[in-house]
Amino acid sequence: MPAENAVQAKEAVKGAEAKTQEKRGYAAAAPIVQIRSINKFYGNFQALNDVSLDIMQGEVFGLIGPNGAGKSTLAKIMTGLGKADSGTVNFSGAELTANYDKIKGFIAIVPQETSFFYSFTVEQNLKFFGAMYGLTGAELQKRTDYLIEWLGLSSFRKRQAENLSGGYKRLLNIACSLVNNPKVIFMDEPTVGLDPKVREHFWEKIFELKHQGKTICITTHYMDEAEHLCNRIGLISDGKVLLSGTPQELIASFGGVKVLVVKLNKVPEKIIVDAIKGTLKGSDVNAAGNYLIISLLPERALEKIASITEWLVKEGYEIVSSRIKEPDLEDVFMNVTGQQLRN
Ligand SMILES: Nc1ncnc2c1ncn2[C@@H]1O[C@H](COP(=O)(O)OP(=O)(O)O)[C@@H](O)[C@H]1O
Ligand SMILES: [Mg+2]
Repeated sequence: MPAENAVQAKEAVKGAEAKTQEKRGYAAAAPIVQIRSINKFYGNFQALNDVSLDIMQGEVFGLIGPNGAGKSTLAKIMTGLGKADSGTVNFSGAELTANYDKIKGFIAIVPQETSFFYSFTVEQNLKFFGAMYGLTGAELQKRTDYLIEWLGLSSFRKRQAENLSGGYKRLLNIACSLVNNPKVIFMDEPTVGLDPKVREHFWEKIFELKHQGKTICITTHYMDEAEHLCNRIGLISDGKVLLSGTPQELIASFGGVKVLVVKLNKVPEKIIVDAIKGTLKGSDVNAAGNYLIISLLPERALEKIASITEWLVKEGYEIVSSRIKEPDLEDVFMNVTGQQLRN
């Protein structure tokens, strides 16, 4: 029966959605960090303007924005390293500055700049930071060994930190911050300058941390990273949080339309461009050299592509290549701020 089919289909979709969430290790939960109306001035310059955000228990939250947006300033305020001029940060309902001694034990910040000792070995650094958190004896050794193994630093255990490659310096920076086994971890631009292999290794570690039940907040200006890692993101520009939501929600609402890019064997005649414009009412059709660039309406996009390319062939053109550019977070940023996201 159609009604039953509809119910079954709905349930199947629900099941698939739950599975996807499970794979990403995320279930919607209560906020663990609540940021309310934060303002921050450096002299007369307002670096943060009425910033409010929630970070949910067990999620990877991405604070996304270009250089100078205010990400590091906010990360420092969220972890008690910086002071806001007004506004509050709550951890599980407890205000941060008033309860700092209680809260600092379960949060960690991985700062943008490396913060370990260059003259110490990897192991000495971890032991130093562990001791600062009150670990001693067998417990300290166990935690040190675990982190060295877990981050793939075993062959560098006795190496002086200054002699590590850039990627491994960053991993050591992370290891030093995780030594107290924090529940909430803030990472400020953790992958800047990493080569692709180390970046992938780092991404795996983020997923592992999430599966261990940690809540993670990262700042980044890499949109692919945000899309890959984050359950939800907040878009920040000029000290203001403009949007927050899942990458999928933001792309669907603000990403704009799919774009079809067709490369032909010759420059398309104006009459061809005009004909496509006439057929695809509401789409933006442009020619640039041998390329046709068509902003398609999102509905029935695939059918339209098929009929356009068939017709072009009939008109004597060869399709050298054709690809669809799906809207992404770069487009969201561009559409919302009118600016390109660049360092
Ligand atoms: N200590 C400081 N004194 C004065 N201005 C600062 C200071 N720290 C940051 N700023 C300014 O505040 C703005 C936000 O900086 P920051 O939080 O570091 O941004 P992001 O991390 O997004 O690149 C920038 O314009 C920066 O120049
Ligand atoms: Mg920064």
